[in-house]
Amino acid sequence: MKFLSRMMNDESPYLIEQEIISQNSGFAIVEAYKTIRTNLMFSLPHAGCKKVIVTSSMPKEGKSSSIINLALTLALTNARVLLIDCDMRKSAIHKILKMKGMPGLSEYLGGMAQLPEVMQDAGTMSFKVICAGTNPPNPAELLAGEAMEELIASLEEKFDYILMDTPPVNVVADTLALAKVSDGVIMIAREGETNHRDFSKAVSSLKFADAKILGLILNDVQSKTGNSYKKYRYAGDYRRAGNAASGR
Ligand SMILES: Nc1ncnc2c1ncn2[C@@H]1O[C@H](COP(=O)(O)OP(=O)(O)OP(=O)(O)O)[C@@H](O)[C@H]1O
Ligand SMILES: [Mg+2]
Repeated sequence: MKFLSRMMNDESPYLIEQEIISQNSGFAIVEAYKTIRTNLMFSLPHAGCKKVIVTSSMPKEGKSSSIINLALTLALTNARVLLIDCDMRKSAIHKILKMKGMPGLSEYLGGMAQLPEVMQDAGTMSFKVICAGTNPPNPAELLAGEAMEELIASLEEKFDYILMDTPPVNVVADTLALAKVSDGVIMIAREGETNHRDFSKAVSSLKFADAKILGLILNDVQSKTGNSYKKYRYAGDYRRAGNAASGR
C-alpha cells in the first residue's frame, strides 16, 4: 500500500508496509479507489453519515486491505472517516496500521473501556480508527447487541463515513448481526479465489438479513497486459455489480 503513503504526502505519520500493490501499479490503484469512492457517494446519496460494511464470502479475500484503502481515499476528500474493526476473531486493522490493538471494540462493548480510550487517531485529517480489541467469547452477540447500536447512533453526527471491517459471511454470523446498523454492504471478491457459489450464498444471506448490497470490489485482478495493472485494481462497474448481486 505504498501508494497510499504517497497519496497522503508526508503528512501521514505511518507507513503501511504490507506489500499489497507494486510501485508501478500506483496510479491505476489510486484511480480505481477514487472511482469506488465516487460510486459509493452516489449509491448512498442521503445526507449525513454513511455506514458501510465491507465483507466477503470467505476468508482472505482482501476485506481488511480494501477497507483501509477505501478509508484513506475517502479521508483525502476531508471527509470525517471512522474505521471500526468489527472482526473481533481475526483482527487485522491494528496490525496493518501499526496501532495498539487494545483496548478496542470488544472492551468498549463489554463495558470495560470508554469511547475516548478506544478511538485512535489514524493519521492526517479526520480519520479515526476503533480497533477490535481482545478476542471476546461471543463476538456475534456483542455486534448484535444494544451497545453496538447505541455506539453507531452516537457516532453518526461526528462522521461522514463509518466503515466496518467484518469476518467472512459464510463462516460466522457476525457480519449479518451488523446489517441492521449499516446503510449497505460492499462485497470483496478475489480473482481466482472466490467462487460463484460461495459468493451467491453470501449475497443471499446478506439479503435475508435485509442488507443492501452496494457493490463489488474485485481484488487481486491479474494483469491482462503484463504490466501496469499487476496486482490490484478496481474492476467492473460498481453500481452494475451491486445491482447484479442484489438481483435488480
Ligand atoms: N491485491 C492484493 N495483492 C496481493 N496481496 C493481497 C491483495 N489483497 C490482499 N492481499 C493479502 O492477502 C492477505 C489477506 O488479505 P486481508 O487480510 O486484507 O484479507 P481479509 O479478507 O481481511 O482476510 P480475513 O478473512 O482473514 O479477515 C494479506 O496477507 C494481504 O496482504
Ligand atoms: Mg480481515
